[in-house]
Amino acid sequence: MSEQAFSFETAGGIDDVLAPVRRAAETVTTQLPFVTSMTRRVLGHVERNSLDVADDALVAPAEVFTSADRFAADRQMMRRTPHVVAWGGEIAEPGDYTTKDVMGTPVLLLRGKDGAPKAFVNVCAHRGAQVAAGCGQATRFTCPYHAWSYDLDGKLASLPGRRMFDGVDLGGLRLRPLPAAEQAGLIVVGLDPSVSVAGFLDDAEEDLSGFGFDRYAHAVSRDVALRADWKLAVDVNFEGYHFPFLHKDTLAPIVSNNSVFDVFGRHCRWAFPFRNIDELRDVPEQDWPERFSGSVVYGIFPSCVLVESPVSTLMLRVYPGDRPGTCVVHMVGGALHPMNDDNDRLLAQAGFDGATAVLCDEDFPAAEACQRGAENGLENIIIGRSEPLVQHLHRGWDAAIARTGER
Ligand code: FES
Ligand SMILES: [Fe+2]
Repeated sequence: MSEQAFSFETAGGIDDVLAPVRRAAETVTTQLPFVTSMTRRVLGHVERNSLDVADDALVAPAEVFTSADRFAADRQMMRRTPHVVAWGGEIAEPGDYTTKDVMGTPVLLLRGKDGAPKAFVNVCAHRGAQVAAGCGQATRFTCPYHAWSYDLDGKLASLPGRRMFDGVDLGGLRLRPLPAAEQAGLIVVGLDPSVSVAGFLDDAEEDLSGFGFDRYAHAVSRDVALRADWKLAVDVNFEGYHFPFLHKDTLAPIVSNNSVFDVFGRHCRWAFPFRNIDELRDVPEQDWPERFSGSVVYGIFPSCVLVESPVSTLMLRVYPGDRPGTCVVHMVGGALHPMNDDNDRLLAQAGFDGATAVLCDEDFPAAEACQRGAENGLENIIIGRSEPLVQHLHRGWDAAIARTGER
């Protein structure tokens, strides 16, 4: 976890910060196929001061955030579904590895010699310590406790004092493999060998492929533990109804809620514009910028949030905590791989700090406030027509729990 402080004073001013951001955006040459039509739709909404909405409002019992049964059902459902946990560029080359906490399970991700991503439970076969930490390049993973050593296929390759284990069958010992795949440059893993990761991104795969996630590296990260159900921490990312109120002095002066949404099976995407998108009205479409002039936010089922804007690339992974009404949010800021100098690092830090400050100072405290409400007599939550993706997310989670229960 990095907590390096950043200020525009140390960076030399906002223009200095934004110049390399713009350069970096220009180096992403992949065409995003949806940007022109998305911009058209948003400009229509700006003109009419409207947004994409749901047909009806949705009322749901507030106990979805408080009940112990629901918490257990959420955890069970989430253990049986794949999770996007990293950008492919975090393990760009054979031998690159990184480590992730996924719902409390320590996971080792690496790029095999064949170029395919691999995932293992990061648990030593000797007594269970984690054999790898952080990220880097390796040909072997040596457990820090008693130096048992594993190769890139997860097989136990050597151990000190082998004769002291006479009578124990060491031959088959290895790190436990987990299902892993790379789709649209994103690393998908399953926490159980029975989880199928094939085709997980569904129709969203093509849409996501243009971002070049296979070239994004981990630049900066921060974990926060919240006194709120994990679903509340996801919900805050998927509606702009609250922008003029909760983000009155931060986001609202810069962005508007003239938003559009699209659904890709269980996954979804919404986008809201910078206020100055209106200037494109007088620009011929072929001269519009390649990146959407605003934020594009993907909800990757069940709880991964990808936030894309011209100034930052952010991945949030939200998981239930150790008891109902708690959760953990892993936030990672990405940068185009490789980062060459301090300027690149500063740039990634600036984008990350800006995006996560609003989340941590405004959105997550609101989620915790709602949790207190749910635990203190709130009967129902009401999800309005202007919060269509919050409805979509809750329906998707409910349906997945119903399916899990049938198995
Ligand atoms: S726990 Fe890993 S070598 Fe002992
Ligand atoms: Fe917000």
